[in-house]
Parts: sequence; C-alpha cells; structure tokens
Amino acid sequence: MAVTYDTFERYRQKGLDARRAGQWESARVYLLEAARTMLELSKSASGPELTQARREMSQKLLDLAKDCERAKAENRRANQPARRGGTGGGASRENAGSGGGGGGGDDGETDASQWVVKDKSTLRFADVAGLESVKQDIKLKLVYPFEHPELAAKFGIRAGGGVLMYGPPGTGKTMLAKATAGEIDATFFLISAGDVLSKWVGEAEQNIKKLFAAAANEERSIIFIDEIEALVPARRDEGGSSVMQRVVPQILQGVEGFDRKSGRAMLLMGATNVPWQLDPAMLRPGRFDEKVYIPLPDLPARRKMLDIYLGKRPVDPAVDLDSLATKLNGYSGADIKYVCDRAAVIPFLASVAAGAESPITGEILEEAIREAPKSVTPEMIRRFEEWGRGSGTG
Ligand SMILES: Nc1ncnc2c1ncn2[C@@H]1O[C@H](COP(=O)(O)OP(=O)(O)O)[C@@H](O)[C@H]1O
Ligand SMILES: [Mg+2]
Repeated sequence: MAVTYDTFERYRQKGLDARRAGQWESARVYLLEAARTMLELSKSASGPELTQARREMSQKLLDLAKDCERAKAENRRANQPARRGGTGGGASRENAGSGGGGGGGDDGETDASQWVVKDKSTLRFADVAGLESVKQDIKLKLVYPFEHPELAAKFGIRAGGGVLMYGPPGTGKTMLAKATAGEIDATFFLISAGDVLSKWVGEAEQNIKKLFAAAANEERSIIFIDEIEALVPARRDEGGSSVMQRVVPQILQGVEGFDRKSGRAMLLMGATNVPWQLDPAMLRPGRFDEKVYIPLPDLPARRKMLDIYLGKRPVDPAVDLDSLATKLNGYSGADIKYVCDRAAVIPFLASVAAGAESPITGEILEEAIREAPKSVTPEMIRRFEEWGRGSGTG
C-alpha cells in the first residue's frame, strides 16, 4: 500500500511542531519520516519536474532532521540559532523551553489521529542491509507465530510481547520496525516517547487508551515507540506518580500479541539510543522481554548499502565498491546513505549544466566520505556493548 500525501503532511507537521518546541529527538524522528515519505511520493510523481521538486523537499526535510540532531548534541534551546561549542552542562534530554511559549501547543481533547502517525509500510526486511540475526529474532518472535498460529501453539512458541532495539543512532532501528510491519502487512503506529510526555502531561493514560483503541481497530498492528527511554522520569523523587510507573505497565499490558480468538495481532516494538537511561523495570520478563542490539553495519552490510543507495544511480563502472565499503568502517547506515546522497548532487548538477549525463566517480565518493563525519564514536560503541553485557540478555 502506497504512502499518501496526508501521511507525509502529518509527519512533517509533527516534526515542525516538535522542532519549534525544541524537542530535538522527536523532531528528528518525524522529520526523517517526512523526508522518507516525500521521497516515496517522488517516485509516483507525474513528470520529472514534480519528481525533482519532491526530491528537493525531501532533502530539505533531511537537512532539517540533521540540524535537529546537531541541536540535540549542542543542547540547543527552542527557537535559538546554532551556537558553537556550547557548554555541556545540564540534563541530557532537551525539553521544551521552560515557558513553553514556542507555539504548536495544540493540546486538549484529541482523537488518536492527531498525536499518532499511522502508516502502511512498504518496507521489507530485504530493504534493511545486514542485521541478519536480528531479523531472524524478530521473525521468530513476531512474524512466524503470527503467520503460523497453529504451529506456534503446538510448539508452545509464545507470540508477541515487546521487542526492544537499542544501539547507536542511524543504524536502522526505525527501519526494522517499519519493515516488520511491512512483512506482516500490519498498520504501523509510530509514536515518539518524548512527544508523548511533553504533549500528554496529565493525560498520558487517557491517550494510551486511545492509541490501543485505534490499534485494536486494525487487524494487524505494530506500535513502535521511539526514544522509549523518555518514559523514564527525569527525577526519581516524583515517587509513585512517575509516568514510567503508571504508563509503561499499561502499554505493555495493552499489547497481548497475537490473539488467536479474534485473529487480531498487536505487537510492540521500542527503540532507544541511550539504553542506560531505561528503567530496569521496563526490561523485566513480560515487558520488553526481548532486547536486541542494533550495531553499526559490518562489511557485507555496508557493501549492501552501497548497492541499495547507489544501485539505481549512474555510477562510473570503474568505482571499486568493495574498497569503498571497507573505507566506510565505523559509519552508520544513515551516514552511508548521506554519503551516497551527497555524492549524487555534484554529477547531477554537472549533468544538468552539460546536458549530458556524467556519472558518480570514485573521486566524488571518496570526497563525500571525507566530508561526512562518523556520527558514532568508538566510545559510544563500547558503552553499548558494556550495557548489553551488564544488563544480562533476556
Ligand atoms: N541497516 C540499514 N540498511 C539500509 N539503510 C539503513 C540501515 N540503517 C540505516 N539506514 C539508513 O539510515 C536511515 C536512518 O535509519 P533509522 O532506521 O532511522 O535509524 P535509527 O532508528 O536506528 O536511528 C534510514 O532511513 C536508511 O536510509
Ligand atoms: Mg530511529
């Protein structure tokens, strides 16, 4: 099922709202989705001009998303221009400015469609490079029991429950969640936990009920909660009323996996780039009982990404993709896509100017690699691995 302009518009709007409020992570998530949706729409555009216009819009949204990433890293406040070398002090999460006067606060009674983005996914596991063992895990836990309920019951395989993905940014967590929805043709509900908290203060339970009501209307659904660590209260002294304590059990109870009687399936996936901020309670059996590490792409995955992101573009046949893939060690999937997108711009412009196609050369690609910083550091990787060891795999 193809994406619609309406879907795009909702992602874009949510992205811009979050950006205005200084919720950088939520803004990044939604703007990325908007960019991707627009790119998808560009493929079905009638005529080259509309295609190009949509591509450019997609690129703009991508740049905005990148800027949100920088803003988050800089601890930038809402509605402020970028500052160089900001002081690092303060909370690691950027919240909406204290006054919250940034606009976009359309609070109050809502039906689910206003705060959750619902989508049909066209992605498949084959579109996600690498991560083969993770795909296998997800198939075992979410896909096969659903496709073969009788067999699953016979073998005592429990379907559903929550799968939590953790790892550095840009490694394909959101993509995998969408691909899972695509594999079982489920409706995909994307919510960003940061968004949940900022918009739902005082009404979180109510809204979660609405979310489940909306999902229950679908024959098959996947609820994907991005930046799920945001459900952990920033301050522990909030005691019994912490959002985590009230809301997470509610979320996890609402998701009972595949219901054989009704034939409906509702699955939960979560993602975080900062798993050490999670409340351990979230990881108890019966909650997110499966947690999977989503690492940086290995060599075959990087090679596959080059196929995915350069395959349909005119590339000089002399380019040695294997050696490029080797050079891209340490780059995330998002970095690699960025490199490929960048590398396409110069020869595209040259082709326009010359009126003849000039391909993407090895030199251009190398230059794009040099210019694109790695967004993940070895220290970050170590921290993820340590956390994975320390928290005991489920
Ligand atoms: N494993 C992968 N295979 C193909 N593309 C990827 C992969 N990982 C990341 N990308 C690219 O990077 C973009 C961002 O990935 P995303 O799934 O949003 O990362 P995360 O949710 O882990 O931060 C994707 O839209 C895709 O273009
Ligand atoms: Mg993501």
